[in-house]
Amino acid sequence: MAEWCADHLRNCEGWKSAGLELSTTSDENAKLLDASIRQLVSWSDCVSLGGFHDTLVRLTASDPGAIMARAFFVGLAGLGTESAARDPVFAKTMTQLESDAEKYGNQREKRHVKAAVLWGRGKHHEAADEWDSIMDEYPTDLIAVKFSHDAHFFNGNCKGKKNAIEKVINKWSHDLPCYSYLHGMYAFGLEECGLYGDAEKEADQALNLNRFDCWASHAKAHVLEMNGRHKEGKEFMYRTEDDWRQGWMIATHNYWHTALFHIEYAEYEDALGIFDREIAKRFNRTNSLLDMVDASSLLWRLELEGVDVGKERWANIEHLGKFIDNHAIVFNDVHLGVALYRQDELETEKNLRDSLEKYSSLLSEDNARISKEIGMPLYDGMLDYARCEYDVAAETMFPIRDKVIQIGGSHAQRDVFVQTLIQSCIMSKDPKNWSLTPQLLIERETMKHDSLLGQRLADKFRAKHPL
Ligand SMILES: [Fe+2]
Repeated sequence: MAEWCADHLRNCEGWKSAGLELSTTSDENAKLLDASIRQLVSWSDCVSLGGFHDTLVRLTASDPGAIMARAFFVGLAGLGTESAARDPVFAKTMTQLESDAEKYGNQREKRHVKAAVLWGRGKHHEAADEWDSIMDEYPTDLIAVKFSHDAHFFNGNCKGKKNAIEKVINKWSHDLPCYSYLHGMYAFGLEECGLYGDAEKEADQALNLNRFDCWASHAKAHVLEMNGRHKEGKEFMYRTEDDWRQGWMIATHNYWHTALFHIEYAEYEDALGIFDREIAKRFNRTNSLLDMVDASSLLWRLELEGVDVGKERWANIEHLGKFIDNHAIVFNDVHLGVALYRQDELETEKNLRDSLEKYSSLLSEDNARISKEIGMPLYDGMLDYARCEYDVAAETMFPIRDKVIQIGGSHAQRDVFVQTLIQSCIMSKDPKNWSLTPQLLIERETMKHDSLLGQRLADKFRAKHPL
């Protein structure tokens, strides 16, 4: 991040005069909280602050009891999909925070605690509502803005993502730190609502204000991907690579987007090169589930295209066994399941599925309900495809295809399921399944225009099932 991140960090008085009072009396804690949210929103490290992780360590040390900082940590862990209420340590952290917030938190902090704990306990939609509601009263509360944006993303709520930024963006003074990032967030919300022209304008505006806004670069990549502007997309990603890769928290995903442009042109070696050079290595450094999703998705998509990616590449997505009881987001579980299967880790994959099935009976959690209704059939359908049981895969995934949005992620990410369903139908033996292919191709084209990959799917269908 540009060095401005470290400038004018707000102390207690600064937060108060911004209308965002904190209950901590530690100016150091107040400043480090500001530093933390700025780096999170920019997806990058501020070098002069020692980077995001170091800032977080110092944030806790500066006032271990500070309510707002602790609410930030709980939100960060939940939305990072690394922790969930079933983790006893995390559960205890949340209970203690609630109790302390009641004793000495201010009203805004209590609402933040409520939202973060709701998310942590699996009430993902209520949590998003709470963060949105905080934004109504405190439109410049960047922590609420960021957490709301991420929550809507994981909830598959496109309109929520757009509307939340739309209602506050004009209430921000342009000289507020991180103002430009609102345009990048707004761009992504607009893009997910299919408003591609407006989305591109917002992404361009964000990048004009700050070329290092890797989330705006990401939103622009989505627009170019969905509009079939793959050549432009590839050129854009490479031309601006030195800008967006500084945002290490999202760099793996932006490389994944670059690889998608290559796949559209059947430039498989280029996509594999990106996997080898950037994606696998980054995942093995971060061990983040969000990076695992990109790694698994990329190899799976290449295999759908008929590319032999090799067992070694799947094996390079290491140490997946530790995630099998996570279940923070079923979107992750599906990507995890196919990776484990491709790694021939069949026992671990079975344990993941058993664990997911058990978890999905916990209907008190939003993700558990979605896992039961949508995630499990999707998981099974993907694995049926992996086992070459194409008719079963098609019959399992077709009925839920319009509900898959509820598992979260972006349209571009969920396209992996659309492609798998179409391939399943093409490869099916039963006419009632393969005859669904033209309808599915049209549905995909409506969402994702001028896809060369879509043309290849149509050609494969006609070759396999001539009129
Ligand atoms: Fe994306």
